[in-house]
Amino acid sequence: MRIGTTLTNYIIQNQRHIAGATGEFTGLLNDLAVACKKIADLVNKGALVNVLGSADSENVQGEQQKKLDVISNQIMIEALRHNGHIAALASEEMDSVYHLPPEAPRGKYLLLCDPLDGSSNIDVNVSVGTIFSILKAPEDRTDPNEADFLLPGAEQVAAGYCLYGPSTMLVMTTGNGVCMFTLDRDFGEFLLTRDQVRIPAQTGEFAINASYRRFWEPAVRRYIDECMAGADGPRGKNFNMRWVASMVAEVHRILTRGGVFLYPCDQRLAAAGKEGKLRLMYEANPMAMIVEQAGGAASNGRQRILDIEPREIHQRVPVILGSSEEVERVVAYHTAG
Ligand code: AHG
Ligand code: MN
Ligand code: MN
Repeated sequence: MRIGTTLTNYIIQNQRHIAGATGEFTGLLNDLAVACKKIADLVNKGALVNVLGSADSENVQGEQQKKLDVISNQIMIEALRHNGHIAALASEEMDSVYHLPPEAPRGKYLLLCDPLDGSSNIDVNVSVGTIFSILKAPEDRTDPNEADFLLPGAEQVAAGYCLYGPSTMLVMTTGNGVCMFTLDRDFGEFLLTRDQVRIPAQTGEFAINASYRRFWEPAVRRYIDECMAGADGPRGKNFNMRWVASMVAEVHRILTRGGVFLYPCDQRLAAAGKEGKLRLMYEANPMAMIVEQAGGAASNGRQRILDIEPREIHQRVPVILGSSEEVERVVAYHTAG
């Protein structure tokens, strides 16, 4: 009877090729897998365990938190803080960096996460996810601070997400391609179900929240209007549209069958003093690394996402990612305008 390749097997096999590897990274991914399994279990049980609905609190970004945002954040902390694999943790749901308890052993990694992405979908039983990004911690400090996290996405050691959909899937990259694992709930293991994922360079599918069209910049409006004009317009072909409102689900679709995803800045966000909606450190950077590792592209319209020098931990950015030819076209429209 074949067991298959578990996530732990896979990481240990890859670790053998890295000189000086200590097993700490394997341990960290294991902690993350445990956290994701716990969140998957709660998402799956939903109303049965009273985790749906709002938490009566706001996060640092002024967004209403769902109960599961708060619980998922607590699960991430609990799964990581005592195991000696990280030196500090930053999350979309916490105002500032989480420092480990004084007695906890320190590891050599920094973890950034969006504990529950797409949480507006929780109460309507639509896919949500967890996104994570791993950076190297500075070696000379036991309690890294916010400035230590402010590295460009190109410095990420690894990035990944867990999608809580019809199947629970963990998708990750360590800079050597993208692989997908599916959770076998009876068995309790993530098993490798796809390796070396590639995003086709061309696509006929785009994803954007079109209800904001009146606020878009001319470059975005031009690109989407041309897609919408289909075979009768300058593109000479028909496009299909999707919007799940869970970035994890959109990226997963793009990794599976191609596509382009846009969450641009717009006048509505700019008027509120925001450069975009999505967060650079918890959403844009990890997804950009995954998409690039699968042969796609990720830009803010003017610059490669992974090259952005972060100014602050909760920074927001416009995001355009997916099939490379479409991303290049959107970027060309930005620079032309
Ligand atoms: P989060 O639930 O972590 O705040 O993220 C939601 C994000 C992203 O996943 C999604 O693409 C986008 O917000 C949806 O925004 P709109 O509701 O404006 O479409
Ligand atoms: Mn999110
Ligand atoms: Mn979130």
